[in-house]
Amino acid sequence: MSSLPSTISNSGRWLRRTRHSVTHGMAYAALRFYISSPTPLDAKFAWQYFTRKQAPFIQSLIDAYPFAFQRRLLMARWLKQSHAQGIEYHYDVSNEFYKLFLDRDFMFYSCADFSSDHDSLEIAQRRKADHLLSLIAPAAGERILELGCGWGSMLRHLHETTGDKESLTGMTLSKEQARYVREKFGFNVRLEDFITTDYAPASYDKIYSIGAMEHVRPDEILPLLRKLRDALKPNGRMVHHFFSLNIGWRPASTVAGQLIFPGSELSPHSHHLWAAREAGLEVVHDSTHDYRPTLRAWFNRLAKNRDRALELVGLETYNRYLVFFPSAWAMFDRNEVTLHRLVMVKQ
Ligand SMILES: C[S@@+](CC[C@H](N)C(=O)[O-])C[C@H]1O[C@@H](n2cnc3c(N)ncnc32)[C@H](O)[C@@H]1O
Repeated sequence: MSSLPSTISNSGRWLRRTRHSVTHGMAYAALRFYISSPTPLDAKFAWQYFTRKQAPFIQSLIDAYPFAFQRRLLMARWLKQSHAQGIEYHYDVSNEFYKLFLDRDFMFYSCADFSSDHDSLEIAQRRKADHLLSLIAPAAGERILELGCGWGSMLRHLHETTGDKESLTGMTLSKEQARYVREKFGFNVRLEDFITTDYAPASYDKIYSIGAMEHVRPDEILPLLRKLRDALKPNGRMVHHFFSLNIGWRPASTVAGQLIFPGSELSPHSHHLWAAREAGLEVVHDSTHDYRPTLRAWFNRLAKNRDRALELVGLETYNRYLVFFPSAWAMFDRNEVTLHRLVMVKQ
């Protein structure tokens, strides 16, 4: 995706917003308008603007347009790009930038478990990590794979728990993440697409994917789950922590979402469950978790570190994240998407 020029005149930006409302819908047009702001967005404004409840009539217009056939055409263009391009666009901006808002202990970039308003992000992320451990109780000597290992957060937590580093493997498509996790922590990380790669049969006892299935496109889910099932040893277990749609296919927000995660498309939750069954995996656990406090915490930390963030990534990327967190918060608040944790067992 090409970068947005940051110095378009104000009237030019308004004209473009109008044009984008017609070609891509109101949500996309508003996001793009504020991302291309010639000045850093005011945090209070951004939060209020993107989390405000619309009048039902306006919300139904936002949800209905672009029409389904237009969304299909628009998405077909975006989905031509490789996963690697989309991942690079989102993640390879600066590891230091992510440190400004992620939890200081692990750098998890996925939903934490807050139990009250008083929890710090660090406490909430550790609670989440412990829950993920408790779901499949990994042990030393078991071969464990993490799909989409980010900055090594779960690998580190697994290592802390089992004391076994040699049996752990992470995969990511972000060059920055792979370099960071290898150099800083010495884990075995494969810089590969976990969708297209080949896995040796019956080679893993356990598999984690935490916040990675959101990047897997609808028609890739079943083939991926079949491969993962074959990669598991008999009775092998997988944990998938991801958010999925509660409403039908390809809502209008999918189009706006391309500004943040180009080349990714969410699926309905029922599609994930169907694919697991078809692949020969039994879903033995499915819990839901509230993503909103995590998004709010990341937003607050980013806004607090505005000046350093601008130095590290520049205006457009800063503004992009400042609109991303509240608009994602609003999607969870409207119940359009929900975060699930699944445990699947090889049949
Ligand atoms: C939202 S981050 C989550 C990172 C980490 N699991 C955590 O909880 O902090 C998503 C991760 O999935 C990886 N990813 C997404 N699609 C991928 C693919 N097709 N192949 C390899 N890695 C992928 C990204 O590179 C990134 O590391």
